[in-house]
Amino acid sequence: MIDYKGVLNTIYQEIIQETDKGEIASYIPELANVDKNTFGIHLQLVSGDAFSVGDSEKKFSIQSISKVLTLALALSHVGSEIWNRIDVEPSGNPFNHLALLEMEKGIPRNPLINSGAIVIADILLSVLEHPKEDFLDFVRELTGDYSIDYNYTVADSEMQTGFNNFAAANLLKSFDNLHNDVSDVLDFYFHQCSLEMSCAQLTRAFYTFADQGNNIKGKTRLKKSQIKRINAIMLTCGFYDEAGEFAFEVGLPGKSGVGGGIVALLPNEFVISVWAPGLNERGNSKLGMEALEKFTTLTNQSIF
Ligand code: DON
Repeated sequence: MIDYKGVLNTIYQEIIQETDKGEIASYIPELANVDKNTFGIHLQLVSGDAFSVGDSEKKFSIQSISKVLTLALALSHVGSEIWNRIDVEPSGNPFNHLALLEMEKGIPRNPLINSGAIVIADILLSVLEHPKEDFLDFVRELTGDYSIDYNYTVADSEMQTGFNNFAAANLLKSFDNLHNDVSDVLDFYFHQCSLEMSCAQLTRAFYTFADQGNNIKGKTRLKKSQIKRINAIMLTCGFYDEAGEFAFEVGLPGKSGVGGGIVALLPNEFVISVWAPGLNERGNSKLGMEALEKFTTLTNQSIF
């Protein structure tokens, strides 16, 4: 039996001594106020035990991590029709790259870059009666935690400053790959990104991807084949132009957000979330990636 508590403590002691903690995302003004010294981890085993260290109960903005959850909800509604409007290839480019979208005639490379997630938001707007409420209910049910909520100030902050996302949405519209009104779609997208969770809540939200579609309370909403596809997309596209590096260093499917969170999982074994708000130059949590590299190396647990 692996001494998970001991491993997390070792990682914590090593990581908090690092002097280069990366840079806080400031392009979303509301995110700039977070303390760079914050650091937490929460680990949930599929066999039942859970372990944590540091600021694992403090809430943060999950940002792009929400793209996996909207993808899951869209797949549960419309199934593989999604793939007529979005590809499943890694982009090798930053999350907000626009030139590729124009070159590929409005078909986003994958659902985890911004343009792909905006198409998913458009799909949800078309199929859900009350999109923001219904998505929030989905996440709360998945997690078994009804305290999870949007941060309306963060969503508003992005609505005022998210010019790149407006450009992406307008480009999608010009290629007929956006069926609803641009500002309605972005209002939904900015709200999904503003969801706040602690490492413990995020781990529970993603439990379903580690346990073949059963959520932490044992309810099933996603098919095993859909879980397989979502995990494959996380592995190949979850870290944008750093997806190769994450697979190389950590060796798990996962997803990052500019709030500094990362969630990763080993199917049938565990889900782990890390929060360290300083980012590297590719927009992924610098110390979060380092912590996960240490975790899979010390426990000898990865998909490889
Ligand atoms: O759309 C954006 O730019 C942000 N709401 C989310 C970007 C993000 O989290 C990228 N991930 N590392």
